[in-house]
Amino acid sequence: MTRNLFAKMSLLYLFLTIVRSAPLNPPVQVQPKYQVASEKFHQEPNLEYTFEQEFTNGEKFAEDGKLKTVNGMNVIVTKGSYTINNPDGTETIVNYTADEEGFHPEIITPTSG
Ligand SMILES: *[C@@H]1O[C@H](CO)[C@@H](O)[C@H](O)[C@H]1NC(C)=O
Repeated sequence: MTRNLFAKMSLLYLFLTIVRSAPLNPPVQVQPKYQVASEKFHQEPNLEYTFEQEFTNGEKFAEDGKLKTVNGMNVIVTKGSYTINNPDGTETIVNYTADEEGFHPEIITPTSG
C-alpha cells in the first residue's frame, strides 16, 4: 500500500518535473522538407535565360526561356522539366512548355531509380 502510494507520488513528481522544464512558448519551427543544394541562372541581354536548381533530396528543376515573336510582339516562352521523388522510391518527371497558348505539362510516369 505504502509502496503503491510512493510509486504514484514518483510519477506525479516526474510529471511535474517534465511540465516545469517545458518552455512556456516553444518556438514554432517549420523545417523545410528539402533545400536548394545548387542553382545556376544565366540571362542574356535579350532576356533569354536558363535556370537550374538541384535540391538536397536529389530533385531537380530546370527551365529555359526563349524569345519568340507572336503577333509582332516579343515574348519569352519557356520550356522546363522537374523531377519529384515518390514515396515508393520512383521518380516522376514533369516536362512542360509555357507559351502564348498556355501551360502544357507532360507528366512522365515513374521510372525506377
Ligand atoms: C524531358 O525533359 C528532359 C530535360 O529537358 C529531357 O532530357 C527529356 O528527354 C524529356 N522527356 C521527354 C519524354 O520529353
